Amino acid sequence: MATASEIAAVGVIGAGQMGSGIAQLAAAGGCAVLLLDADPTALSRAVISISASLRRLAAKGQLSQAACEDSIKRIRCVSAVQDLRDADLVIEAVVENEAVKKKLFVELDKVTKPSAILASNTSSISITRLASATKRPSQVIGMHFFNPPPVMKLIEIIRGADTSDEVFAAVRSFSERLGKSVICSQDYPGFIVNRILMPMINEAFWALYTGVATKEDIDAGMKLGTNHPMGPLQLADFIGLDVCLSVLRVLHSGLGDSKYSPCPLLVQYVDAGRLGKKRGVGVYSYG
Ligand code: CAA
Repeated sequence: MATASEIAAVGVIGAGQMGSGIAQLAAAGGCAVLLLDADPTALSRAVISISASLRRLAAKGQLSQAACEDSIKRIRCVSAVQDLRDADLVIEAVVENEAVKKKLFVELDKVTKPSAILASNTSSISITRLASATKRPSQVIGMHFFNPPPVMKLIEIIRGADTSDEVFAAVRSFSERLGKSVICSQDYPGFIVNRILMPMINEAFWALYTGVATKEDIDAGMKLGTNHPMGPLQLADFIGLDVCLSVLRVLHSGLGDSKYSPCPLLVQYVDAGRLGKKRGVGVYSYG
């Protein structure tokens, strides 16, 4: 099993917002990055946005020009799970769906080297259940990044029932090597952050649904009244309303308390395809 300093090659699966941000962090941290997505358009979009983001950091003097260009060169786009055979650590950031993730873990277990650590960026799905799809549950762990990964300072590490102390220590040191602070959660629905964040977002939807106030006033209340950088409805759009709904459903079914039941307005927006900023419309419209 690789220790943190031996993690030289990192596979990142999913070239969406989270996957691109994670790939950027690993490349800037000196790792060779294999960015995997079946969709070539998503891969080229990711490389453009990672390059732009790193060059912005260089322009601001937070990264040297050489380090910026070297980081970009360290990212290789690939399209098949087999291409991750040399990775020391694989972090998956695919769609928040347990069946999809489990199938991926089965494949990863077959193709990656026996020492590789397999991590999931899941927002709420059980790491223990994902690990059970593999023959190496002690090497499976949750590495939950926050959006946008290059900016947010936290990685929430989730230990599955069988995650070994060595794997936890390696992933913790690796996260710190990426410049992040770490918190550790046991494997319960929603872990730490979403267990607390999603009920707040859901409550904001209830406030809107029941006519307590306008969306603008709900958001301004939390921004100006509690110093949050974004109001809860704007944040929900930023995260993706589909992701919020899926986390709430995991909390509701996993903890069995009606207080986690998703607000009908949130459900309706998702049914209507109003998924937030990524779709141009959610609670708000984006031009
Ligand atoms: N990639 C890289 N850098 C970015 C970025 C991105 N996508 N978005 C913003 N930045 C950088 C900007 O370049 C800027 O850097 P400088 O200060 O060095 O110039 C800095 O971040 C601030 O950006 P802006 O001035 O454009 O805007 P802002 O001050 O409004 O900050 C924000 C933007 C950082 C997103 C801020 O609004 C914020 O912190 N919002 C809350 C985000 C949050 O809570 N995320 C977690 C969501 S929960 C989650 O992700 C997990 C889950 O499971 C659901």
